[in-house]
Amino acid sequence: MPENLLKGKKGIITGALDENSIAWHTALKAKEQGAKFVLTNAPIAMRMGAIQDLADECGTIVIPADATSVEDIEKLYDEAKEYLGGNFDFLLHSIGMSPNVRKGRSYGDLNYDWVQKSYDVSAVSFHKMLQVAEKKDVLNEWASVIALSYIAAERAFPFYSDMSEAKAILESIARNYGLRYGKNKNVRVNTISQSPTKTVAGSGIGGFDDFFDFAALASPLGNASAESCAEYIVTMFSDFTRMVTMQNLFHDGGYSTTGITQELIDAYVASKK
Ligand code: NAI
Repeated sequence: MPENLLKGKKGIITGALDENSIAWHTALKAKEQGAKFVLTNAPIAMRMGAIQDLADECGTIVIPADATSVEDIEKLYDEAKEYLGGNFDFLLHSIGMSPNVRKGRSYGDLNYDWVQKSYDVSAVSFHKMLQVAEKKDVLNEWASVIALSYIAAERAFPFYSDMSEAKAILESIARNYGLRYGKNKNVRVNTISQSPTKTVAGSGIGGFDDFFDFAALASPLGNASAESCAEYIVTMFSDFTRMVTMQNLFHDGGYSTTGITQELIDAYVASKK
């Protein structure tokens, strides 16, 4: 196991809701690798209480912020900077929510007010985090900014609904802000496209459990766990990946480049018997 990959680094981790959250695992790994950070989540998630336990375990604080609110992000950066005693080396955007998915609206029957909400929470909030960071100049040179995506941004999936477009916007923001911030301050911006993962956000997608099993069979290495995703995120926050920017990086056990696997064919044949 590598040691102290993030020694001396400071940052902000959004989106830890419970012990299954990808952000939760990331906080534990970042702590293990020597980083100092603050946790944040929407005020409503705070009421569920679990995030305070994580903060205690990591020896840090939680600053509530709705990621769709520029004011909240400004306050988050001000308070985090004061607590950490300086600018940030990493930011994790681990935020996603679609009211249409949550309420089971099909892709042919979307509520357009909710579509706006999906985009705002799951994608535009990433732009807001970057824009406020740039305006306030709170990122150090070579800082690393990561958001989490899913392959439905690029390929059609019947169940991912308006989150497909939200993730496509998210990945586009990483490219375009990566260009700008790279030129301005050597800050790098990437998305990580993760396997289906059993979390609150993941399990909210219709038919998730079956698809989770399917994806495992369709990936030579199986589905990537939340913990392994956290390890990849920490690597991306480290200085060993300094020249990587504006990328969508697949962390999916090989799913995205697999046509078909023998295991899937065998499962199909068995289902016909
Ligand atoms: P999760 O449900 O544990 O985390 C989602 C987080 O978004 C929660 O902590 C929630 O409170 C937060 N959030 C929602 N609205 C917010 C707002 N307005 N302001 C601030 N925070 C808000 O689930 P998970 O899976 O850890 O999700 C993290 C990211 O990973 C999301 O972007 C998700 O789309 C992405 N992802 C998840 C996959 C999965 O299968 N679970 C697969 C690929 C990507």
